[in-house]
Amino acid sequence: MKTIIEPFRIKSVEPLRMSTPAERRAWLAEAGWNLFRLPAERVIIDLLTDSGTGAMSSEQWAGVMRGDESYAGAPSFYRFLEAVQGLTGFTGVLPTHQGRASERLLCELLLGRGDAGRGKVVPNNAHFDTTRANVEHHGAEALDLLTDVGRQPSAVAPFKGDLDVARLEGLLRERAADVPFVMVTVTCNTNGGQPVSLANLRAVRALCDRFGKPLFLDACRFAENAWLIKQREPGQGDRPVAAIVRDMFDLACGATISAKKDGLVNTGGVLLLRDPALLQRASELLILTEGFVTYGGLAGRDLEAMAVGFREVVDEDYLRYRVRSVEYLGERLLEAGVSIVRPPGGHAIYIDATSVCPHIPRGRFPGQALACALYEQGGVRSCEIGSVMLGAAATMELVRLAIPRRTYTQSHIDYVVEVVAEVRAQADALGGFELVEAPPALRHFTARFRPVA
Ligand code: F0G
Repeated sequence: MKTIIEPFRIKSVEPLRMSTPAERRAWLAEAGWNLFRLPAERVIIDLLTDSGTGAMSSEQWAGVMRGDESYAGAPSFYRFLEAVQGLTGFTGVLPTHQGRASERLLCELLLGRGDAGRGKVVPNNAHFDTTRANVEHHGAEALDLLTDVGRQPSAVAPFKGDLDVARLEGLLRERAADVPFVMVTVTCNTNGGQPVSLANLRAVRALCDRFGKPLFLDACRFAENAWLIKQREPGQGDRPVAAIVRDMFDLACGATISAKKDGLVNTGGVLLLRDPALLQRASELLILTEGFVTYGGLAGRDLEAMAVGFREVVDEDYLRYRVRSVEYLGERLLEAGVSIVRPPGGHAIYIDATSVCPHIPRGRFPGQALACALYEQGGVRSCEIGSVMLGAAATMELVRLAIPRRTYTQSHIDYVVEVVAEVRAQADALGGFELVEAPPALRHFTARFRPVA
């Protein structure tokens, strides 16, 4: 059959609260034109993030009931450990409360406490906001090394998440002593949820070996990346996704994972480490700031949900539906004449705001203008990924429509397409924004804006 259906049925539902454009206009003003400041009940379709917003399966809820809350050595921890070891091949597995906690531990271990990382540089295909903030918090520079094609929204290429190996080699030749580790983000969130190929990971690893540098994955969306490798990389089409996942992790010395994405849970994270000495130091730090090594700041029930989620996420029927439903949104938007990052990636569609609002200069935040207009028009909450979120590091002005896992139906998505098309038809009338107040780091979460004509 040609139609790819949701490989699940719905057992429990949550009502959506409807609202009018006039109500939403007033709510936007109240929220300082920052969608992060909106109460979620004022949103109809929430595409702010795919992080922690998915639906858990009945097996995961059963796991929640099975959760054992012993402080040390809970059976839930061992089930979590077995699932993660089976998936990744790593024996050094620490639970954390979410991805950024894993990033903080890694940065403190490899860059040093406080701003001891001053003068150091951490290369990545592209840092996501929290990863960048953690690297910079420890004094180091977070350097993005995407390929040229990865930075052009409309250029179609299979692996726009690939790290530019030649530029990494140039950096290592010039400043090897300043590079404590290399990171690769799979899939690459900041440029469209674009996948990284196995060939690129192998080339990066070979380069890291030549210069004696450890390679770490930011592996939040490892399963979507593996599925896209299966679809797009020569020679990978007949291999099980689980084998591709294993190949990806085999190339890394460690990984930070936010289980809120491909762990299919509402909260949870993982830090993977191969080096026993580093694992020992990470365990000590974990106990100091997150919790004992067998719970890492989580409840036993969270560990159970992760154990099940990490198995369910490599189910190929699930991944086929997941990636196809994102692609469907992308195709419909392209049909409606909306410029998006092409090809569609794993977890979201990213609208090119500079193309929809060419009259709004970058300093007036075209992505913020578009995101606010989508909310006002249809109650659709999206996320600016451009100059508001990334500041000077932004290479594109994007608005991300992130699809929570197993949560919305095709008619929800059809409604979103209609809202975007309607906003695009009137985009000439949109004005830009200026910042009223913002903190120095991760400003997009709490900043306030003012519309400018
Ligand atoms: N790395 C990447 C690539 C991410 O996308 C995120 C989170 C993190 C790390 C941090 O994980 O939230 O569990 O601490 N991304 C979410 C998003 C917030 O909306 O893309 P966390």
